[in-house]
Amino acid sequence: MSNRKSIIAANWKMNITPSEAESYLSSFLQTFSEPTAVDIVLGASFVTLAKASKHITPNAAVDLAAQNMHPEANGAFTGETNAAMLKEVNCDYVILGHSERRSLFGETDDFINQKVHAVLNAGMKPILCIGESLDEREGGQLESVLSGQLKGSLANVTADQMADIVIAYEPVWAIGTGVTATPEQAQDTQAYVRSVLAEIFGDEVAGATRIQYGGSVKPGNAADLISREDIDGFLVGGAALDPDSFAQIVQAGIDDAA
Ligand code: 13P
Repeated sequence: MSNRKSIIAANWKMNITPSEAESYLSSFLQTFSEPTAVDIVLGASFVTLAKASKHITPNAAVDLAAQNMHPEANGAFTGETNAAMLKEVNCDYVILGHSERRSLFGETDDFINQKVHAVLNAGMKPILCIGESLDEREGGQLESVLSGQLKGSLANVTADQMADIVIAYEPVWAIGTGVTATPEQAQDTQAYVRSVLAEIFGDEVAGATRIQYGGSVKPGNAADLISREDIDGFLVGGAALDPDSFAQIVQAGIDDAA
């Protein structure tokens, strides 16, 4: 346990329609009717965000995240969504650089870096995802891949701005596979991620930055993972599609903070 406040986020990906979000929220907000010892975030599709925002009061236990954002303020970018649109639906966080965006939609560290700056400039908080493939890990490239992603995606970010950035370490081989990194693997890797942040921004900033783990997090493995020193929360896919299952993962974070 550290003095960093854990942040536990659902990444619903391309799931949960606006009406499904309403029933999810009515159940979830009954369980967590006021702010808790951890920050709770729900990452919804753009149309679902618009609906969900109507059900979240200013002092609710949860904040909303978008799963992507275009870096330009507006213009001819068919199919894209800008910062002003997200702010209007009470979005506090934006998930950026998810491995699915990197691999399926060709996003580069440079493009993700532009988005990081746009999200910060708009007064929202990036959840910046990084992670290696199995080939990269087994080929001895774990550290170079993660450090390259961090340095590229965080280029020209200031130490002060780091207070608003959350890093999500998600090994690609653990996403949606049911194969979770062991708590030791996740801890070791996240300690390395923190050491890269210290190299870029100094020890104080690195020590204050929240680093989530993502990849097959479930109610059964959450408590062990979050007990580790450098694991400051989760980014949860499949197990967050059900409000009861996600609530159990959040509860593991609350118990850890107690
Ligand atoms: P799973 O929890 O389904 O493995 O997904 C993790 C993830 O990609 C969250 O962003």
